[in-house]
Amino acid sequence: MIAESVHMSQETVREETLDNIVEDVRRDFPILTQTINGEPLVYLDNAATSQKPRSVIDRVCSYYEEHHSNVHRGVHSLSQRATEMYEAARETVRGFIGAASTAEIVFTRGTTEALNLVAQSYARPRLGSDSEILVTMMEHHSNIVPWQILSGQTGAKVVVTPIHEDGTLDLDAFEQLLGDKTCIVAVAYISNSLGTINPVEHIIERSHARDIPVVIDGAQAVPHMPVHVGELDCDFFAFSGHKMFGPTGIGVLYGKETLLDAMPPYQGGGDMIESVSFSGTTFNKLPHKFEAGTPNIAGTIGLGAAVDYIQNVGYDFIQKHEARLLTTALSKLSELESIRFIGQAAERASVISFLLGDSHPYDVGSVLDKMGIAVRTGHHCTQPLMDHYQIPGTVRASFAFYNTIEEIDRLCSALRKAASLLQ
Ligand code: ALA
Repeated sequence: MIAESVHMSQETVREETLDNIVEDVRRDFPILTQTINGEPLVYLDNAATSQKPRSVIDRVCSYYEEHHSNVHRGVHSLSQRATEMYEAARETVRGFIGAASTAEIVFTRGTTEALNLVAQSYARPRLGSDSEILVTMMEHHSNIVPWQILSGQTGAKVVVTPIHEDGTLDLDAFEQLLGDKTCIVAVAYISNSLGTINPVEHIIERSHARDIPVVIDGAQAVPHMPVHVGELDCDFFAFSGHKMFGPTGIGVLYGKETLLDAMPPYQGGGDMIESVSFSGTTFNKLPHKFEAGTPNIAGTIGLGAAVDYIQNVGYDFIQKHEARLLTTALSKLSELESIRFIGQAAERASVISFLLGDSHPYDVGSVLDKMGIAVRTGHHCTQPLMDHYQIPGTVRASFAFYNTIEEIDRLCSALRKAASLLQ
């Protein structure tokens, strides 16, 4: 009994500590204090894009107010300062994901551009009409369409690993589909629609056993969990700044240096060249070979600030608090009579997709909006996955570390209201 009460009081302390930290971190996000339709905002659309802390906003503002100039182009002081800030952000990102060298960190517009770069620059020269590209049923369109375009260009086939009813990957089928024709495996670390965390270590290990490279869509992973590309041993890893509390329009492609080095440039223009003449052009060294044109300097610097912010808050807190949000939300939402969860993987991030009776997700989302609650409704850029479940879409509540248990209560009572209005 004593041991139990000690245990319980430790639990209580831990929960109180988490609540105190949440209270503190919420103060860092100016947007969270506003009202929407007369109600305090409950922002549960973090898988679409997350909100920005003051430190990111300030870093972008101070860059424009005090340091703005073009990078890698000027002898003048401002240009050198901007270049130093831009390259410092690259080093910050390198450390954040455990890459061996800054040569492996290519700045892109986002995950989508990073995946297109891999498809066109890495895969296209290597694929033939009998090649196969292995993806999964739960991919985002940005990890399907670039491969379909490549398929149109080369004749290669896009092969799809099926999933189980609970939204986990069918690993036996994956093993069978991984064959002599497979030239690349492309898989999401975390499903944006279901929250499923895929066993990417296993997928990489099985693919490498056959010398098949693996590209990971990590867009939904970095906001929730630490990622170490060196330990994962993935060949490519793509993610976006805006889903990890950084600016929009900036993302990262990590690639193993030997692979990136052997790849042709993705786009031509300024900054990616060594010298240009009408008799021929030579290209810049890594990673600049893949960064044609004036880059998103402010976005990159803001991304560096977002990494600093995540590291200050700490994944230890993020993971503990989000696990509590997920468990609490699943338990409270389960009390709603007409709820049907889409995806119930045991290993999942704080993303919950559901339907409310026969109500259309858009109608549910609109009622929630009237009560100040932001969720995403629709197919979440995963139409094949929705087709698999034979549904038009879902209502998706996706949590970040600044969400609270009270917000889950607000969501549940708003859904009760929606159910009474719509059903
Ligand atoms: N990929 C983003 C989402 O899941 C836009 O909502």
